[in-house]
Amino acid sequence: MMNNSLGSNTFVLLPAASVALFIKDSDIRQAALSLTGDWRFARVKIEVIDGDVETAIDYYADKTSPDLLIVETLEITDGFSDRLDVLGGHCADTTAAVVVGPVNDVYLYRKLIDMGVSDYLVKPLNADVLGAVFSKILTERLGAQDSQLIGCIGAKGGVGTSSLSYVLSDVLANSLGQKTVVLDAAGGWSYLSVAMGRESITNLHEVARTSLSADKDSFSRMVVPVGEKLSFLATGAEPLMEDSVSADSFEFIINRLMQTYPVVVVDLSGASIDICRHILARANDIVVVSTPTLSSLRSARALIQEAKTIRGEKEDGIHIVLNQKGIGSGSEVSENDVAIALKMKPELVIPFLPKLFGIAESQGKLLSMIAGAGEILSDVKTFLEKKIGIVLDKSTSLEAGPEKSGLLRGLLHKMKKK
Ligand SMILES: Nc1ncnc2c1ncn2[C@@H]1O[C@H](COP(=O)(O)OP(=O)(O)OP(=O)(O)O)[C@@H](O)[C@H]1O
Ligand SMILES: [Mg+2]
Repeated sequence: MMNNSLGSNTFVLLPAASVALFIKDSDIRQAALSLTGDWRFARVKIEVIDGDVETAIDYYADKTSPDLLIVETLEITDGFSDRLDVLGGHCADTTAAVVVGPVNDVYLYRKLIDMGVSDYLVKPLNADVLGAVFSKILTERLGAQDSQLIGCIGAKGGVGTSSLSYVLSDVLANSLGQKTVVLDAAGGWSYLSVAMGRESITNLHEVARTSLSADKDSFSRMVVPVGEKLSFLATGAEPLMEDSVSADSFEFIINRLMQTYPVVVVDLSGASIDICRHILARANDIVVVSTPTLSSLRSARALIQEAKTIRGEKEDGIHIVLNQKGIGSGSEVSENDVAIALKMKPELVIPFLPKLFGIAESQGKLLSMIAGAGEILSDVKTFLEKKIGIVLDKSTSLEAGPEKSGLLRGLLHKMKKK
């Protein structure tokens, strides 16, 4: 019945949750078990029990019910509805129920939905359908993983977009205590590994392949730590003249990183247009970097407009950073005129400091490791706190999320009242 309503949340990491299936069908068992190897379900506990509604009634007489309960039935009679009602009485208000039945029947579907059942599925069910149903119900109930994605994009080349993404990551991790990962979409042109004082060990193609597999170890080897809270994706080993990964593949990588890192920073200088467009649409925050020169400002203005359109005519989350102020080229525009040209005021201004950035670049060091960077770091911190809304992480635990179950409306609860 609802087997084709896959929804758009098929490719997000699901929150920690529990699912139990009471089924006799061996194909469904296989499909459910195959999901346990899928990265999206890394935090979902899936239990498959050979049985039906009666087995479930007995089972939950003295056990806590899961977030999602799937019950297979071979016949749908009034007797079955009554037993479903009994099962509801044994379950927590927050448990969602899905019934798998033998026939496609609109009347029956409506009746079950009225009873408070979240969905009615008709066999056969493959892993894709089952996964989509799990995703839909669990995200509706528990919310998606709330990692923050920040994209840095330059008004043109060489304005300091990569430098800015490094300093943002540096401050996020080392001043604000956020577990952060930074990655570069530029393929072989990426300078990220060198900037972090390391070497490239992989390429985006390989990372994309690995991010789709269940092999957690291979993936985590590609993410190299540089300090307690900061890591980077050590790509850049691909040939310069090789095509970049597709936007879809890049999305898999992002999804995989968001699974583990509360903050993900993407350097888009050198990214393909497809990837830029995709990140512009998806990121929580977009940081547009421009120098105070006419050519850069003109392009920045256009970029902000386009980003706004891509984001559904919303300006929220679009930020402008003015870099290399005081570079002193003949065409530098005053700060006042910058605001007029952009029709918005830069939220962060970084002066032209060739010595400081030169040391960072030549020695592969973060600004926080170099004397004399204090003022920039403190300005960046203020920007992150006030404009991006990221504050000091006092807990070091990643798992600590708000307890949401109290707010959830139990659908089976409705059943009980019938
Ligand atoms: N505020 C600054 N003061 C002085 N030098 C800077 C500043 N910001 C960046 N730089 C230097 O400018 C050069 C270009 O910076 P960066 O590579 O970050 O730019 P980009 O926009 O990412 O370039 P690309 O388009 O090549 O990816 C680097 O040598 C960097 O060290
Ligand atoms: Mg760059």
